[in-house]
Amino acid sequence: MPTVSFYNFRVFLSKSTGMCGLLFNLFVWSLCLLCLVDLALAGFTSSFIRSEWPSIDIPFDSPEFAVPDGYNVPQQVHITQGDYDGKAVIVSWVTISEPGSNVVLYGKSKEAYNLSAQGKFKNYTFYNYRSGYIHHCLLSELEHNTKYYYKIGTGNLLENFGSKHLLRLMQMHHIRFGIIGDLGQTYNSLSTLEHYMKSSGQTVLFVGDLSYADKHKDNDGNRWDSWGRLIERSAAYQPWIWTVGNHEIEYRYDLGELSTFKAFCHRYATPYAASQSSSPLWYAVRRASAHIIVLSSYSPFVKYTPQWLWLRKELHQVDREKTPWLIVLTHAPIYNSNDAHYMEGESMRAAFERWFVQFKVDVVFSGHVHAYERSYRISNINYGITSGNCYPVPDKSAPVYITVGDGGNLEGLASRFLEPQPEYSAFREASYGHSVLELKNRTHAFYHWIRNDDGKFVPTDHAIFHNQYWASNTRRRLKKHQHLVSLTAAY
Ligand SMILES: *[C@@H]1O[C@H](CO)[C@@H](O)[C@H](O)[C@H]1NC(C)=O
Ligand SMILES: *[C@@H]1O[C@H](CO)[C@@H](O)[C@H](O)[C@H]1NC(C)=O
Ligand SMILES: *[C@@H]1O[C@H](CO)[C@@H](O)[C@H](O)[C@H]1NC(C)=O
Ligand SMILES: [Fe+2]
Repeated sequence: MPTVSFYNFRVFLSKSTGMCGLLFNLFVWSLCLLCLVDLALAGFTSSFIRSEWPSIDIPFDSPEFAVPDGYNVPQQVHITQGDYDGKAVIVSWVTISEPGSNVVLYGKSKEAYNLSAQGKFKNYTFYNYRSGYIHHCLLSELEHNTKYYYKIGTGNLLENFGSKHLLRLMQMHHIRFGIIGDLGQTYNSLSTLEHYMKSSGQTVLFVGDLSYADKHKDNDGNRWDSWGRLIERSAAYQPWIWTVGNHEIEYRYDLGELSTFKAFCHRYATPYAASQSSSPLWYAVRRASAHIIVLSSYSPFVKYTPQWLWLRKELHQVDREKTPWLIVLTHAPIYNSNDAHYMEGESMRAAFERWFVQFKVDVVFSGHVHAYERSYRISNINYGITSGNCYPVPDKSAPVYITVGDGGNLEGLASRFLEPQPEYSAFREASYGHSVLELKNRTHAFYHWIRNDDGKFVPTDHAIFHNQYWASNTRRRLKKHQHLVSLTAAY
């Protein structure tokens, strides 16, 4: 245990100027040492070396991207939460030849699709690519914890589209989230997706960089379509909560494409208005026992910008009685010790870390770096350009930071970590994989990361998270005290 503190202490010594600073640091450090008693800090860098599968995109004519048979049959079906509280779902799909029907038929049994909703379609061009008809349809007033079946298309335009069912929508406590980032569309991506489907997760928290279409000539929009068909196997049956990454920006001035996030915004709907956000790129949803805040690493977030104002509002609105768990999603990681993209999350850290600590965020999930890493609970909120306290310190109120940018895209792995492993880093490994977070009740969550070991499903890193709000000592003491008070009052 003490190794980390001593190391940090050295850093402080070399950074601090003047006796006052030194004494203050000593004081802070003795406090930190006291706090450290139940934290076992010892970073681990996995020595696992994977043999790389080819990191190339699966060819268009492969069965993984198969276009459904029949004229104008809906494809690329996916769903996401449609409101703040999980009583609505947005169903999206694409038709190629003509707009077709905008209607979704749904019901609680496969025998009775006796409810219906009317959606709208959008289409766009990107340089010389012309999209199909992208439909979005909101199903609202759904009951929690109820399974719905849905069917797309009616009338004579669409034939025999199979039923897809919605996952249970839950406001009860227990839920299992999958966390996937930087997926792309290679054989490694497929392996991640298949493994996730084996983990029996109920909702995906997607941390940005979807199709990697922008890695192809003229940001080939057909790669957005093939990606939609790839993920349908999961995304048509359970909500995927979307975060944007740098590969969604698609600013191509050389092609005359000056608007940003064009394909993403047309294809992937988010329920941003339900949380009073002014942009589909940042928003919040409450799902089961979690309040999930989605941030955009590639939109303005400094003080006074809409994202900054919105986040401040949203954090004040979190009700830990209703949603004990508070989860933040970003694309660029805030704490990560990989050589790739090092410090790219630093500007967001400077803007938001203090709030993450103040509001006791449980976990921040990010992608971007194509490797896996989990941090200890640390913060660097005392850093200032003049203080010199630039090294993060253990902080029980801070979130755990997890990077899961290892979905398996065509760029391959980020296999160079900075050495030695910084004290804030608990576990790191450059392999493809995904994470699962299971919220058991309001105090405990089980977390693990599953490696794709050349196609095999290998649970590798795991941790138990104690809720930052409900499991803290002061909270427990307060509860006990209140309990005693109410007992005394009653008798
Ligand atoms: C729809 O079907 C269900 C049975 O699955 C039934 O309970 C419900 O009353 C029906 N609703 C309408 C509006 O007909
Ligand atoms: C969208 O679809 C309509 C109807 O087919 C068509 O007239 C219009 O040109 C399309 N717009 C774009 C931007 O492709
Ligand atoms: C919460 O879940 C954990 C892990 O399963 C269990 O040990 C604990 O007793 C549970 N707490 C309550 C209040 O049920
Ligand atoms: Fe990225």
